[in-house]
Amino acid sequence: MNFKLLAKTMAVLILFCVFSTSTFAGQVEVLHWWTSGGEAKSVAILKGLLEKEGHSWKDMAVAGGAGENAMTVLKTRAMAGNPPTAAQVKGPAIQEWAREGLLANLDPVAKKENWDKLVPSVVTDIMKYQGHYVAVPVNVHKINWMWCNPSVFIKAKAKIPTTWAEFETAAKKIKAAGFIPVAFGGQAWQEATVFESVVIGQAGAAFYKKALVDTEPGALNSPQMIKALKTFKMIKKYTDKNAPGRDWNMATSMVIKGEAAMQFMGDWAKGEFTAAGKNPGTDYVAIPAPESAGTYLFNIDSFIMFKQKDKSAQQAQNAMARLILGKKFQEVFNVNKGSIPVRSGIAKASFDDIALRSMDEFAAAAANGTLMPSMAHGMAVYPAVQGAIYDVVTEFYNSDMTAKEAAAKFVTTIAAAK
Ligand code: BGC
Repeated sequence: MNFKLLAKTMAVLILFCVFSTSTFAGQVEVLHWWTSGGEAKSVAILKGLLEKEGHSWKDMAVAGGAGENAMTVLKTRAMAGNPPTAAQVKGPAIQEWAREGLLANLDPVAKKENWDKLVPSVVTDIMKYQGHYVAVPVNVHKINWMWCNPSVFIKAKAKIPTTWAEFETAAKKIKAAGFIPVAFGGQAWQEATVFESVVIGQAGAAFYKKALVDTEPGALNSPQMIKALKTFKMIKKYTDKNAPGRDWNMATSMVIKGEAAMQFMGDWAKGEFTAAGKNPGTDYVAIPAPESAGTYLFNIDSFIMFKQKDKSAQQAQNAMARLILGKKFQEVFNVNKGSIPVRSGIAKASFDDIALRSMDEFAAAAANGTLMPSMAHGMAVYPAVQGAIYDVVTEFYNSDMTAKEAAAKFVTTIAAAK
């Protein structure tokens, strides 16, 4: 062995590494709200993949379900002229950010990676502004689920409900047996999440669209809406006194521990069951929220990317965009997060029955016209209108306001927000 030659080669190699790192490696600062156990585990996968390519990840996690706090921080940062590299922003809000002229054009990555072919147009339409990609979709979450602890139902001799009438029967038995029927988090976004699942279940997808997507006054203030509001408020009887302010993952943990029987929540809740080592079908069961089988309220996480001056930051940003829709990330992230892949061509083997069911239901609902964007999770209306709906829902849930008054108030509050 020629040691001189070896030493020389090593030196050249080291120099090459240093050089290539400084040329290609960049940093991404990522603003998101994935702070629960399951969420943190999931987002760490993206961080790991980027680091593997030599880039670094500056975490800007802002706690608070559904991202209300994160959006406040993002606005402050953008107004100060210091936005992050990427931020978790969803639905119509993407258009609002794009209009500000702050977003990077992701077309080159999209073209190279064939996003138009891999991702359904119902999703890519949301990610594009004036025909150009300004956001990357991450996953598809379904909202209208009910998460149950079967052992609580067995102990209470109750049946897992598929209708709201059955729900009341079961909830009474569960309460009498000393358990909390519904694990509930009294925060505006969680109330809105449960409310929209009641609306689509009880009044159907076509009505949901008129009321919570198109915000037609005739649907907002209607007998169907009043009925849905009453059903939504009925649930409150079966929650515990500590529900106000409770975080969603704390509520999930009550179901995991067998303190509560059920939770109405999107399938990020599954991420908590998974992180706790629980098995679907035995430790917990997920079925559609009462009367909502056959409908699919979708919620697509996505990242907008802000324009970068620095070349290495641009490269890191492009790598992030590419990795998000890459096969590896789509599989491992979604298995952990509780969502399903947003692109085609991902092997199904590592997904559980709940995810497989969600995949089938997504396709069936798209074909039947029952695939609807979630209002509560920013997919259906602009943030100002969403805020107006949240206000009425939370006031109704937490006061003596009647369902009739709330239905009328939807119309005036939404009109004022538009
Ligand atoms: C997001 C999920 C997140 C959940 C709870 C939803 O709006 O889409 O990714 O897990 O909020 O924070």
